[in-house]
Amino acid sequence: MTVEQAIEKRRAYRLLKPVDITDHILEQLSRAAQLAPSCYNNQPWRFIFIKTRHLLNKIFEALSPGNAWGKKASLIIVVYGKKEDDCVIKEREYYLFDLGLAVSAILLQATELELVAHPIAGFSPQKVKETTGIPGEYTVITLIIIGARDKNGDGESEEKRPERHPLSEIYYIDTYKEKNE
Ligand SMILES: Cc1cc2nc3c(=O)[nH]c(=O)nc-3n(C[C@H](O)[C@H](O)[C@H](O)COP(=O)(O)O)c2cc1C
Repeated sequence: MTVEQAIEKRRAYRLLKPVDITDHILEQLSRAAQLAPSCYNNQPWRFIFIKTRHLLNKIFEALSPGNAWGKKASLIIVVYGKKEDDCVIKEREYYLFDLGLAVSAILLQATELELVAHPIAGFSPQKVKETTGIPGEYTVITLIIIGARDKNGDGESEEKRPERHPLSEIYYIDTYKEKNE
């Protein structure tokens, strides 16, 4: 699969079915994150891969009600970090940016492995910390919900990719423009 194909194929599907989480999958996903770029090569990202059933069940309790679909996950990656582990250049705090780069690499690698990898913000970070033991100084940024796509559910409802802003609104050539200019 080319990068272009992975970018086109990746979707945040919610209808999931179980998948066997092999060592190969864990190695590929963690390697994708490891090789991501970061400010000054600080690598501020930290992850906990939760795959053991009773621990998955505990982390499910941290999901917001609207994310109950995530209880079909076979693997949840807890993504966390802290500002002090990365560049802070005046008002620019790079740890969130660098965590995002690592997560993006994980999502594309998961896509190539025929997995759904769906990042979410709807969860209780406090409950995640209680379950995992992540210390207070860290911020839990996202949970990546991982499974196989279940096309036998109501798959049609999520077939269509959510609308994107037109390209004319998100990039300009050579100079800044006001919207609608
Ligand atoms: C930081 C972040 C937080 C998100 N939080 C949620 C969430 O709590 N629940 C959910 O169902 N989807 C969540 N999503 C998925 C987005 O809704 C989804 O990526 C977006 O609608 C575009 O759809 P697509 O990824 O299938 O192209 C989140 C995505 C990101 C990047």
